[in-house]
Amino acid sequence: MTSSDWDPDLYGRFADVRLRPALDLLARVGGALPEGDIVDLGCGSGPVGPALARRFPDRRRVGVDSSHAMLAKAEGTGAYDALTAADIAGWTPERPVALIYSNAALQWLGDHDTLIPALAKKLTSGGTLAVQMPRQNRAPSHRIWTDLVQEHFPGRAAQAARPETADPVEYHRRLSPLGRFDLWETEYFQTLPAAPEGHPVRHFTSATFARPILDRLDEGERVMIEKLYDEAMRAAYPPAADGTVLFPFRRLFFTLDIA
Ligand SMILES: C[S@@+](CC[C@H](N)C(=O)[O-])C[C@H]1O[C@@H](n2cnc3c(N)ncnc32)[C@H](O)[C@@H]1O
Repeated sequence: MTSSDWDPDLYGRFADVRLRPALDLLARVGGALPEGDIVDLGCGSGPVGPALARRFPDRRRVGVDSSHAMLAKAEGTGAYDALTAADIAGWTPERPVALIYSNAALQWLGDHDTLIPALAKKLTSGGTLAVQMPRQNRAPSHRIWTDLVQEHFPGRAAQAARPETADPVEYHRRLSPLGRFDLWETEYFQTLPAAPEGHPVRHFTSATFARPILDRLDEGERVMIEKLYDEAMRAAYPPAADGTVLFPFRRLFFTLDIA
């Protein structure tokens, strides 16, 4: 079983509910940025590109992502002046930048204690680092994928990349000494539309959190786990009469303005 690339179409199915936190983060970025580029780190298919272009029409806007499929879609938005294929862990800008904006990407990289201060060092004086990451691993939507695969195929889930966001206090401890730090969390009560087959929460999580776990299964194993997952989701997030589902989703946000 090989690791699949991101699927921009699958990911884009819930574009509206995924865009809302991205815009909430952007709204908290202050107006007085110093000279320099705007970087959308882990830009994916570029859903935030148009909002960045409206907000910073005169800045050079750069998207960075490791997925070629996602970057190809981002290109189509026409919102970026440059798109760079790079791993965030090793990414270095040509020169210090004014804003590093990262929506729903850094949870895929480990060692935030080292990574995030290192990103702050890539800012020019007075620049801002703005980050949003899901903090949903303990909710049934995420925990049950891992539990089911662990129960039926021991060891397999442990081989998969697992997105991870630490407790908010950990970010406060590490980042508040570095500048003006604003930290918050929001639980979005998302209404997912009815799905033609399977539970709507499966369709939401399959494109992101569950992707590396599902990559570890063959077709038959995958069908079996998806069936069990659908049953568990019906109990955890019961569909309304019209098939829609209320799906609470917790996200952590911070902005760091460096001196
Ligand atoms: C959930 S998507 C979010 C994309 C976009 N920021 C948005 O708001 O829709 C996560 C993105 O992070 C990218 N990503 C994950 N790990 C990465 C890494 N180590 N380096 C660069 N990009 C990475 C993926 O390719 C994917 O496009």
